[in-house]
Amino acid sequence: MPDGHACAAAGGECVPVLEIVNVTKRFGGFLAVNDVSLTVNRQQIAAVIGPNGAGKSTFFNLITGYLQPTAGHIRLNGHDITGVAPHKISSYGMGRSFQRTNIFPKLTVFDNIQAAFLVHRGRGGNFWSRADRFYRDETEALLRQIGLLDQADTVGGTLSYGNQKQLELGLALASDPTLLLLDEPTAGMSANETHDAIRLLERIAGERELTLLFTEHDMEVVFSIAQKIAVLHQGRKIAEGTPAEVRADPEVRRIYLGHH
Ligand SMILES: Nc1ncnc2c1ncn2[C@@H]1O[C@H](COP(=O)(O)OP(=O)(O)O)[C@@H](O)[C@H]1O
Ligand SMILES: [Mg+2]
Repeated sequence: MPDGHACAAAGGECVPVLEIVNVTKRFGGFLAVNDVSLTVNRQQIAAVIGPNGAGKSTFFNLITGYLQPTAGHIRLNGHDITGVAPHKISSYGMGRSFQRTNIFPKLTVFDNIQAAFLVHRGRGGNFWSRADRFYRDETEALLRQIGLLDQADTVGGTLSYGNQKQLELGLALASDPTLLLLDEPTAGMSANETHDAIRLLERIAGERELTLLFTEHDMEVVFSIAQKIAVLHQGRKIAEGTPAEVRADPEVRRIYLGHH
């Protein structure tokens, strides 16, 4: 069992955090996600891969609540979150970042993260204090963790693309998630930026004991980090297993050779 290995590697028994059961999304007559099931266990790093158009972003949006499934169920820590609004799902411990960057481009890096803390934690009843007094230590600590402390005063929109994605990760972490979902976190990055982003994700997942589920179109990117990989093709899950199992799968090989 691939799951058993992954749980043992994470140092504990298998506790399901995210359970996706027979989920389908239909747009008119088109099945973008077709009867897909996937379980992600506590502190597991899991990836959904597939070529462009496979249904990854749709699948991601179903889990984060931005789209409603046509059929199927999604559970987070045992709670049914099928059809629940995104902000509510986020309050249950799910953080997320999107394929397109989602930062405040005119605010500094520091102000971006501080604003995210204010959104998620509020003012704690101190309505008359100035907003810039809140969460300064937390903001600094988080900037250090994501490797952006030296860019604290840089305006978000002027950061390099790779640094913008780091900042976006920081925004997601400010809600203190236990499960983090990332839609193509390395999309548009150079090979070096991709390498750094994957190492950063791996380190932060370890430090924060996160459960991680991310999508990726480039198969090679996920092999060094994911413990479990599901492969989508034309909306269907065609394979699931450890990186070695997925790499050896004849249908996966056929699809990826056909797209490169
Ligand atoms: N809102 C929508 N309405 C109709 N078709 C959509 C919609 N969103 C996505 N699709 C279609 O669903 C398929 C999967 O898209 P997507 O989930 O974005 O794939 P991926 O993220 O794997 O590239 C594509 O054919 C896309 O055109
Ligand atoms: Mg996508």
